[in-house]
Amino acid sequence: MALFGSKKDYSRTDVKVPESLGVIMDGNGRWAKKRLLPRSAGHRAGAENLKELCRLCKGYGVKYLTVYAFSTENWSRPKDEVDQLMNLFIEFFDKYDAELEEEDIRVRFSGDIKGLPDQLQEVCKRGEERSVNRKTMQLIVAINYGGRREIENAVRKIAAEVREGRIEPSDITEKMISDNLYLPDVPDPELIIRPSGEMRMSNFLLWESAYSEFWVSECLWPDFGYDELTKAFIDYAGRDRRFGGLSKGEKK
Ligand code: IPE
Ligand code: IPE
Ligand code: MG
Repeated sequence: MALFGSKKDYSRTDVKVPESLGVIMDGNGRWAKKRLLPRSAGHRAGAENLKELCRLCKGYGVKYLTVYAFSTENWSRPKDEVDQLMNLFIEFFDKYDAELEEEDIRVRFSGDIKGLPDQLQEVCKRGEERSVNRKTMQLIVAINYGGRREIENAVRKIAAEVREGRIEPSDITEKMISDNLYLPDVPDPELIIRPSGEMRMSNFLLWESAYSEFWVSECLWPDFGYDELTKAFIDYAGRDRRFGGLSKGEKK
């Protein structure tokens, strides 16, 4: 039963909506297992649920939604499962574009895209090109993404600048590292949500999450909807984000 009633109310006053939100879409396998279905059915249900999350985030006024779809570690799964996932991404992101267009959502991909199958690389490129002028929200899909890989990549780019004599090692700053990540214009997420109960980052947005609030839900990703998102935003409204300083009330 819906905790907050069946109507979606995006103007509630007890929530705080992050401008930039990260979601680790975890729990597809457990969702399928509970229903005695193959894991691939869980991945399909998870992909379908991404549409609902986009509608909900747009409704609430999130500007940047970064979702973790496939990690650099997920290649270690059985080949069958990896192949099914790659085929699902190809099918899903091509078909999904019409709906994204209707919602005025720009789609971007973050990760080691060159390491993906050629057909999927083309789907990613097409999706980005078609949606480049959409303004309401950005959906960032982290695919073949690893936080460490992203930092490694940034360091390599900066090292090349040093080698070419454009900068000295002493010129390297935190900002320079941020500017060399995959999508430097996307703000760091204020909040990261992980469905399915695991209390870990699993290599998601390691640099960007330095001061993100973290919220874990027991709900499995394919079941994650308005009620859970609203609970997360209510909880986030009560967080005291001190950034190493003092609470607002304690500042003199
Ligand atoms: C997340 O669901 C999807 C990917 C990692 C690609 P899982 O497949 O990890 O689901 P669980 O954790 O086994 O339930
Ligand atoms: C994290 O989930 C990656 C994605 C959701 C894409 P995993 O299921 O791969 O993470 P672990 O193995 O539980 O850390
Ligand atoms: Mg998992």
